[in-house]
Amino acid sequence: MVTVSFAKQKPTKAKVDALAVFATKSDDGVSPLADARAAAEAAEVDLDAALAGLSAKGDTGEVSRLPVRGKLGCDLLLVVGLGSADAVDAEALRAAAGAAAGAAQRDATLAVTVPARVGPDDDAARAQALTEGAALGSYAFTSYRTKTDDLPRLAAIEVLAGEEVDDKAVERGVATGTVTARATQVARDLVNEPPQAKRPPDLADRIVSLAKDAGLKSKVLDEKDLAKGGFGGILGVGQGSQAPPRLVELTHDPLRASGHLVLVGKGITFDSGGLSLKTSSGMAWMKADMGGAAAVVGAMVAIAALAPKVKVTALLPLAENLPSGTAYRVSDVLTHYGGTTVEVLNTDAEGRLILADALAYAAESDPDAIVDVATLTGAQITALGKKVSALMSVDDALAEELLTAAEATGEQTWRLPLVSDYREHLKSSVADLKNIGKAGEAGSIVAGLFLKEFTAGQAWAHLDVAGTAFSEDGNGPYTAKGGTGVPARTLVQWVVDRAES
Ligand code: BES
Ligand code: MN
Ligand code: ZN
Repeated sequence: MVTVSFAKQKPTKAKVDALAVFATKSDDGVSPLADARAAAEAAEVDLDAALAGLSAKGDTGEVSRLPVRGKLGCDLLLVVGLGSADAVDAEALRAAAGAAAGAAQRDATLAVTVPARVGPDDDAARAQALTEGAALGSYAFTSYRTKTDDLPRLAAIEVLAGEEVDDKAVERGVATGTVTARATQVARDLVNEPPQAKRPPDLADRIVSLAKDAGLKSKVLDEKDLAKGGFGGILGVGQGSQAPPRLVELTHDPLRASGHLVLVGKGITFDSGGLSLKTSSGMAWMKADMGGAAAVVGAMVAIAALAPKVKVTALLPLAENLPSGTAYRVSDVLTHYGGTTVEVLNTDAEGRLILADALAYAAESDPDAIVDVATLTGAQITALGKKVSALMSVDDALAEELLTAAEATGEQTWRLPLVSDYREHLKSSVADLKNIGKAGEAGSIVAGLFLKEFTAGQAWAHLDVAGTAFSEDGNGPYTAKGGTGVPARTLVQWVVDRAES
């Protein structure tokens, strides 16, 4: 992994392979910021002529490569666009730093200069956003690659204070950004892992080991514990696989905590659809069907490091949805934790079944809020595409908090209504509920209404990240193909905001 760290060093003196400085876009073309001017002057480069020669415009994420052959501490100056000066926000800084890291893949070391007077007001916030962009833009999942020549060479990124920027604030921003980026990286690593290496017992072990390193408490319920506890949804979905299901519980439990929040993450380690088998193309990315659990684990690792004064419990139901002679059938009736019965009319609507148990279990502890995250419905992709997660909530204040947190992190999210008229789509003639509604009708909302049945009237919100948790071909300047880590940083931001409010 690429390490990102603060260095107390003038950009023109940094001993690195590549130095990134910034420029904005204006009506008269590209406008290099003060640090870009200073670096070019030290390098004896005619910056305006060089940028004109490259037809640079200053658009967000545009990278102009200027070879400076050692006249600075480095050989390569990267002038990175931030877009219109008045529109620069934290997300533009993430995008620009991500683009810089992408452009420096063949260089071993990169320095990124925190500029003054663009984007968020304080130096720490700018440093945090640049750190996140650089760390995530240089992310690569390489565990299974044996040919090393085409691997990225970038190993270290330094974040430096530019002209009129406070060193101490940058140091703080880098420290926070490193932790929040780590939340996303942990989630990406878990999603990118092939499904044979993360079957429920193995994934549970891996989560426990991440939790131990982070200083979180952990507890794992195995198939015997699940049977004793009455977790019929998790057991039903998991019974078709030779690898039995698990329920992992992690806790951040600080002294003098001001409340209790519960995060629940869908952890289907591979979703074949079960006996309601998916098509080959429908199965292509179903190793990512534990993206909700992955994001919650990533968030918990960061929460442990940031130590907000609020208790946070994570519940991660893990199961593998496979067809076999022991698999659950269409028309089977499952009895969930707490006693609610569900008629299974499609074994591919399995996520809601494992979440139902976890939500009912969470509600029992009477927390201040419950937020679940799940790659739950293809309908979420139809409604909002691959860039925008769906939020549903019974609680307007909680929904606003989550939207605010999402906005701050650049993880785009849109609220859908939990239309109570659609509740009747879930009526079963055999059990309390059935697990599917009407084909082609508000699939994400109906899934949300199903989950709501298990929340016992608690303050609860649901994030459907079916389209946003993984990306088939990369998702912008700091998100490569594969797991995106969405919405790990939103969860961290929300928990930190709650603790501070
Ligand atoms: N894991 C899928 C949802 C999904 C689809 C995630 C595409 C990511 C990309 C979920 O378990 C599922 O299969 N949902 C079904 C529900 C249906 C049978 C009611 C769906 O959305 O088709
Ligand atoms: Mn499914
Ligand atoms: Zn699924």
